[in-house]
Amino acid sequence: MSSLPFPFPVVGWDNGEVVLIDQTVLPDRLAWRRCSDVPALCRAIVELAVRGAPAIGVAAAHGLALSWHLAAQRGMDTTAMLEYLENDRRLLAATRPTAVNLFWALDRVGSLARRLVAQGGGPEQIGTAILMEARKVLEEDIAMCRALGRAGAELLPDVATVLTHCNAGGLATGGYGTAVGVVYGAKEAGKTIRVFADETRPLLQGARLTAWELADQGIDVTVICDSAAATVLRQGRIDAVITGADRIAANGDAANKIGTYPLAVLAARHAVPFYVAAPGSTFDPDTPTGEKIIIEERDPAEVHSWGQTRVTPETAAAWNPAFDVTPAELITAFITEHGVLKPPFSESLGPVLAR
Ligand code: MRU
Repeated sequence: MSSLPFPFPVVGWDNGEVVLIDQTVLPDRLAWRRCSDVPALCRAIVELAVRGAPAIGVAAAHGLALSWHLAAQRGMDTTAMLEYLENDRRLLAATRPTAVNLFWALDRVGSLARRLVAQGGGPEQIGTAILMEARKVLEEDIAMCRALGRAGAELLPDVATVLTHCNAGGLATGGYGTAVGVVYGAKEAGKTIRVFADETRPLLQGARLTAWELADQGIDVTVICDSAAATVLRQGRIDAVITGADRIAANGDAANKIGTYPLAVLAARHAVPFYVAAPGSTFDPDTPTGEKIIIEERDPAEVHSWGQTRVTPETAAAWNPAFDVTPAELITAFITEHGVLKPPFSESLGPVLAR
């Protein structure tokens, strides 16, 4: 039986605080993290309590609502409140560099606040508008993911096995999911879908989160070590590889969790379609190619250890890039709320690049 409402309540607002499902403790515990100021929300983003490109965007939008709410409690005038908000916007923007949804959401909500202040709005009226805009970012994300889920479902046979990487599910978004949203869409369309989930070293988003949410939704899921992906593909057990993305450049190069690029190479080798499922907020018209995408490098300690146990010798170094870039030529199609976008991407990406 499902333990949460669906779409999952990944990010919310309660009594002047941003409330998140704490993804660092899943699947052991279902716990909530309450952020009462923006630095606390920034820590939640950096520690991956809230993670996944669209979910980070939704959380950041709510972070600006929180910032305005706190500024209002200090009795500032709206010009000073805007400075306070701008400072918090900078803090949120500095949390993680790769997912463009973060910057997209901050720009969207930040520019609304600036516009309303310029128009002479009062603190309370602007606060309500900012919170409503954050709520819209969340609701639109769910709607986009539902739409892309329906579009992607049509690509799958009635009985299909999908391989995915990391967690591009409800937990990574406003609650419905992108790559895993296609699985939910196919289920809603009456198809029988089985999922192989890469465990996704070093932080195990596949093993911990994708497996948890698919099981929660009653979908057959098998976790494999990342290194087993080649074998399931060679055995002909996979109908489609579907991943999410953190930023898609204008030419279609797509950044996603480290280990996605090798999956795309393997899919091409075994003639299995490789799809990237993402809402419009993940496409970045200002980044021409994947080479320009900034790849977050995380603490080597995440590679040195397995859980709390160090597994590498003290003398060994570790390198921990959080994302890689899959070249557009390896992507069979993008699954978006505008439908399935196939090559040539210079033509088909038009609707998602026009913001
Ligand atoms: O480091 P994470 O867990 O935030 O990485 C998440 C991913 O790479 C997801 O695949 C991506 O954000 C798409 S989420 C719909």
